[in-house]
This record gives sequence, C-alpha cells and structure tokens, in this order.
Amino acid sequence: MSDRYNATRLRLAQQPQQWLITGVAGFIGSNLLEALLQLDQTVVGLDNFSTGYQRNLDEVRSLVTPEQWSRFRFIEGDIRRMEDCAAAVKGVDHVLHEAALGSVPRSVHDPIATHEVNISGFLNMLVAARDAEVSSFTYAASSSTYGDHPGLPKVEDRIGQPLSPYAVTKYANELYASVFARTYGFNAIGLRYFNVFGKRQDPDGAYAAVIPKWTAALIHGDDVLINGDGETSRDFCYIDNVVQVNILAAMSDAAARNQVYNVAVGDRTTLIQLHDGLQAVLADNGVSCDKRPVFGPFRSGDVRHSQANVDKAEQLLGYESRIPLAEGLSRAMPWYIQFVSRR
Ligand SMILES: NC(=O)c1ccc[n+]([C@@H]2O[C@H](COP(=O)([O-])OP(=O)(O)OC[C@H]3O[C@@H](n4cnc5c(N)ncnc54)[C@H](O)[C@@H]3O)[C@@H](O)[C@H]2O)c1
Repeated sequence: MSDRYNATRLRLAQQPQQWLITGVAGFIGSNLLEALLQLDQTVVGLDNFSTGYQRNLDEVRSLVTPEQWSRFRFIEGDIRRMEDCAAAVKGVDHVLHEAALGSVPRSVHDPIATHEVNISGFLNMLVAARDAEVSSFTYAASSSTYGDHPGLPKVEDRIGQPLSPYAVTKYANELYASVFARTYGFNAIGLRYFNVFGKRQDPDGAYAAVIPKWTAALIHGDDVLINGDGETSRDFCYIDNVVQVNILAAMSDAAARNQVYNVAVGDRTTLIQLHDGLQAVLADNGVSCDKRPVFGPFRSGDVRHSQANVDKAEQLLGYESRIPLAEGLSRAMPWYIQFVSRR
C-alpha cells in the first residue's frame, strides 16, 4: 500500500467523514461502501436498483461489524430526480458519484436511456453537490472517452472522437465538470476507469462485462464468444486499485482538483490472453476447462486497443501499489466460483 494511501486511511480513521456513494448497490459502489465502512466512515448510499442489487448491500453488511453497518443509510432513489439528489447530498463532505448506465452495447441499443441517466442525472448531481457545498466530488469517468485516438498508452489530454453514445455521455460529464469549475468554482475530479473487475461484478445479462461473463461461461462449460479476432486489448484494473484512487482523490488537495485521471494498471492484455489466463486461474482453483473460444464479428462501438499511462494519478494523487491482472484474478476468483455455483 502506498505511503500516501496509508496516511490518508489513518487520517480518515482518526477523523471520520460523511460520504455519499451514488450507485452504491452496484459493483464499484458496493466495494467503495465496504472500504469506507471498514474505515468507520459515515455513508449515505443512493441507488434505484436498475443494474444494482440488494444482495450486494447484504454482502457488505456481512463483511462489516454491526456498529460499522449502523453508520450506513440507504436512500432508494433516482439521480434523474433532482429532489432525490438534493436529499442524498445533505450534510455530506465527499461525493463518490458512480451511478450511471454502463456498457457500450446498451448505449448503442438505447442511447436515450443512457443519455438521461448519464448526462441529465450527472448534471443533477453536480448541481445538488454544488448547492450543498460539499468538500469534494469525485465521479466515474471512462476510458471510452479516448474513442478513436490511436495513441498508446493513453494520456489524459489526448483524446479522439467518441465511438459510442456511452462514450459521448462520459465525455459530456468531463465537459460539465470543467465548466462548473470555471463558472462556479466547483472543482470535481474525474476518474477514467479502464475495464474494472472484481467481486460483486454482475456476470448476468446481455450487458455483462467480459471477465465475470466469461468466468461464468467457463465454469458452466459453455462456449466463450470473442467479438473479433481476439487481438483486441484492454488494461484490466482490479477493484482495489479503483477504491484506492477514489479515496485518494476525495482527500486530495486543491491542486489535484478540476482534473481527470486514468485509473488502470498500465498493462495491455489481449482477449485471447485473458481467456487463457482465466482458464489458468480457474484450474488453480480446481475448475478445469480446456475449451477453445468461439470467434464472432467485431462489436460496434468498441475501442480496438486500450492501455493507460497512469503517471498523472501517481504524481498528483499518490496512486501506487497497483494490483496487476493476474493477482487481481487470483483474488477475485474464489468469489466468482462461489457466486456462480450457488445459482
Ligand atoms: N466497471 C467498469 O469497468 C467501468 C469502466 C468505466 C467506467 N465505469 C463507470 O463506473 C460506474 C460504476 O460502474 P459499475 O461497473 O459499478 O456498474 P453497476 O451497473 O454495477 O453500478 C451502477 C449502479 O448505478 C445504479 N444506477 C443506475 N442508474 C441509476 C439512477 N438513475 N439513479 C440511481 N442509481 C442508478 C445501478 O442500479 C447500479 O447499482 C459507472 O458510472 C460506470 O459508467 C465502470
């Protein structure tokens, strides 16, 4: 763990703060909740359960003490409603805004729904947080903002044209945040996540992310479908890295605000390598599967290659000790196996 992260956690444990996590019943939100409650923070959570689950909140409850859980208050509400946003930010020091409709293909199928949640809902949250005079506002941006820019690794200030409605919404978030800094002096921090994975990431449904989806398929002995030739690459980022950067960002000083940061490892893994890696980690966990993947057409809206330069987050936020893909998979796999075989 980085010195700065250790020091920040210590500071929080000594002087607990009030946090709001939107999208708290989702994958990333519930992991942030677990980490903050374990640091004895007071947390309000907002979610409308559109892609999140009560089971995620129940699991967090089982991982913290009853006293820690008593510091959590849940609001079932919708970021598309201003009154829900205003109620959620009341008395809060730090906002971690995760609520959104994720998934590139979902946005290709239904751009209006993605727009309403990811842009109108985001704007509601910005206005509510500005009016409540919160100390910090950290939001989930996305690597999809790099669009068709060919450069690798991706550096924050060099982006291309967006390739999907989802990418447009995440870029619009950054534009709104930067205009709020200029217009109202409200300084937010955007975290461009690159393919996050870990426990509580939903393996089900048409819009499931690749790691939980393939892991479930491999465990069940089903075919794994690779969109394209398998050489598409990603910078897969274990959830603990994301938790670390969120906490560092919220507690960062003024110089680090009104910026966007890549949040990833800085590695590049092709889909074929990922498939082989998943089989190897499953084998380590006693699940053997040696089926070859099935190849299909490329998927519309997908970026071809993705790899982050994370120097900026290291220098300005103190991001360190990044957990690489192989270790992240080893840590996450027992959860996936238990979750998938329970059903
Ligand atoms: N997982 C990734 O790899 C990744 C990569 C880049 C960016 N992101 C972003 O990170 C954030 C969290 O993603 P995740 O993977 O945890 O997804 P998730 O779907 O598990 O979590 C999103 C949560 O937001 C909630 N939500 C959706 N619409 C809402 C609304 N209108 N009002 C209130 N709550 C609402 C959902 O119910 C869900 O609990 C999102 O903003 C996503 O776009 C994720």
